[in-house]
Amino acid sequence: MKNIDSITHTRGQSIYLDDIPLIQGTLFGAALGSPLAHGILKGLDLSAAESLPGVVRIFTHKDVTGENQIGGIVPDEPLFADGHVHFCGMPLAFVVAHSDEIAREAVRKIRVEIEPLPVITDPREAQAKGELIVPPRTFQLGDTQSAWKDCAHIFEGRSDTNGQEHLYIETQGAYSVPLENGNFRVYSSTQAPTAVQRAVSKVMGIPMHCLDIEVTRLGGGFGGKEDQANGWAALCALASLHLGQPVKYALSRADDIAMTGKRHPYSADFRIGLGKDGKILAYELTLFQNAGAAADLSPAVLERSLFHCTNSYFIPNVKATAYSCRTHLPPNTAFRGFGGPQGMFVIEAAISLAAEKLGMDTSVLQKKNLIRTGEEFPYGQIAQSEALECWEKAESLYQADALRKEIADFNAANALFKKGMSFQPVCFGISFTKTFMNHARALVHVYTDGSVTITTGAVEMGQGVSTKMVQVAAAMFSIDPAKIRIQATSTWRIANTSPSAASATADLNGKAVLMACTEIVNRLLAVAAAELGVDAALVGLKDGSVWVNGTPSGLGWKQLILAAFTRRVSLSEHAHYATPDIHFDPSKEKGHPFAYHVYGTAITLVTLDCLRGRYTIDAVRVVHDSGASMNPLIDKGQIEGGLVQGIGWMTMEEVLYDDKGKLLTNALSTYKVPDIYSAPGEIAIDFLHTEKDNLAIFRSKAVGEPPLMYGIGAYFALASAIKAFNPSAVLPISAPLTPEKALMGLYSQPLYPDGQQDRPGHSAVTGPMASSTATRSPHE
Ligand code: MOS
Repeated sequence: MKNIDSITHTRGQSIYLDDIPLIQGTLFGAALGSPLAHGILKGLDLSAAESLPGVVRIFTHKDVTGENQIGGIVPDEPLFADGHVHFCGMPLAFVVAHSDEIAREAVRKIRVEIEPLPVITDPREAQAKGELIVPPRTFQLGDTQSAWKDCAHIFEGRSDTNGQEHLYIETQGAYSVPLENGNFRVYSSTQAPTAVQRAVSKVMGIPMHCLDIEVTRLGGGFGGKEDQANGWAALCALASLHLGQPVKYALSRADDIAMTGKRHPYSADFRIGLGKDGKILAYELTLFQNAGAAADLSPAVLERSLFHCTNSYFIPNVKATAYSCRTHLPPNTAFRGFGGPQGMFVIEAAISLAAEKLGMDTSVLQKKNLIRTGEEFPYGQIAQSEALECWEKAESLYQADALRKEIADFNAANALFKKGMSFQPVCFGISFTKTFMNHARALVHVYTDGSVTITTGAVEMGQGVSTKMVQVAAAMFSIDPAKIRIQATSTWRIANTSPSAASATADLNGKAVLMACTEIVNRLLAVAAAELGVDAALVGLKDGSVWVNGTPSGLGWKQLILAAFTRRVSLSEHAHYATPDIHFDPSKEKGHPFAYHVYGTAITLVTLDCLRGRYTIDAVRVVHDSGASMNPLIDKGQIEGGLVQGIGWMTMEEVLYDDKGKLLTNALSTYKVPDIYSAPGEIAIDFLHTEKDNLAIFRSKAVGEPPLMYGIGAYFALASAIKAFNPSAVLPISAPLTPEKALMGLYSQPLYPDGQQDRPGHSAVTGPMASSTATRSPHE
């Protein structure tokens, strides 16, 4: 089934926050962010801004009627700076004016006086100074201390991964409309309507039941609107409370990039030990997470880095410690993969280093260590593994041996272009790692004309969850999907929602829809049996009508609904689903936190221009464990999107702050994201279809986050191309591997330190290329 939004999307008729028709009297907000990352707020001169015609009022922390606090997990994030500023972009004031333009102009007229304090941007420095968001966490399996002596080979290293800008197409924003009796409807571009409701309630000092947070859809979220939509909604709601008028604020792209947090950069130290046979025996890891200036979701992100620190591998002895480090960057936040990718990158780096030192193909080591069913993850869950199945299917389907030979031949024949190839296995746990968050509700109404509406806590952000909800109801009722409408997520219709996140949205909400529909179906079948005078056990719904004993009865869906209505049978249901069988004990760091795991393997092929450091990602060929995909078209879309986003993170997207904590890459001219020209030349996706039972909706495994981590393969394919050109290249393990870094890597060491001129593959490199060019400018 096609995405139900495809028609309105292509016609430009889909409603996003900025498309909501304005109510008369609507005013427009704009926030002033701190120009400095750390300091004491000495003065805020609003006079010039206030006297600008069209400015209605300027709000600061003094105007907060409830608590000046929006921290979700830890209450450490003031909505408005009060006394101190902790990051560049931290809101200092909120201007409300008669137009967007006036509000933004007024923001520029506010004079700020801040006494600067020392700025920390490096997580290792923060850790050394004891600046931690929460106490460190350690996951442990076996005993690494005693395992080292059994290792034939031990390697150590450091790895770094950088942040990533979410770059959702729709920027952050909210629109607060006062209703009667002190109620407010807040339209918010959020993945988490209940989180917005809770934050707004706290800031305003009014009960949650006064607030209807409504979300029709988002123009992308990627985690950036899991926690960070709260502040903008609180600003608008607070202003609309004071003014009694609707207030709207949709951030400009520049403000959004500068003021919001990103994917967490991580620095890591690792130590890996292998037996003679190449089996990994021990792995030790220390992670330094750059949390930014406030907790936001960092503690939960940190936890997932630990959960995924061994990726798809079984390692009998593991000790992984993670520090969430407080710096003076905007609070970093959820981003597709939620810390998982950062954890996985390190083990891939460790295996790749070990393979290089041992003179082996990395893929041989990877494959040898894939986790098997029955083996244990460091957090105690026993694997139901598809890792080897995905790997072997990828090897045979995409003819890995032929590819290896093709690349070797190409590299032997070409001096200034080298190809690289990598295998990237992925194993990602599905469920919120906080067990209590794994629940959802659905409200299903069948109307007397046979049409159906569904409301759930699932926020549609382009991932196609609304389409999947329609599919569930259409299958349960056995009616035309056109009879079913998905309504906007609303905290008055569906309460206490978990965010649309953790890849779990379709599973959790889909199961709730399934349960609600099942209840209604059971009632309808009793009605049908009574209407037809047959045993209820013989009755079923099929193709829009009632069937008895395998044949159509002539009683159609619409007649059945009318019959139920006249018999005063409820045609509505509100169902609650909570994932069974999951548990986790943080005091032991052990349990069974995930409903299931998603596995997959990607083969990535790249070509590197060794004169310029430029490269192309030629192909990514994937075998992805879908269980039994309920919508292959949507799932392929998610895999392609996630993959390209992951490649962007690993290759070209480079978030840079200066040492004063100011974002340097604050526009799309300086922050490069993959466009169609830098996307892989070919993406092949094959589903590993399994028959095993799982907890996914219709056994269709979650697909939101896992594919992002296929992108890690691009880093290692490029690294291998660099080594093919210069086997003695010294390449710091540091993502993204931008063309600049690739170039520096290519010429990081003299190609022929011993004067040797005839290394295989380098025979055509003569003259200036043969000398050290490490200091050469990366520009042509
Ligand atoms: Mo998603 S990164 O779990 O919002």
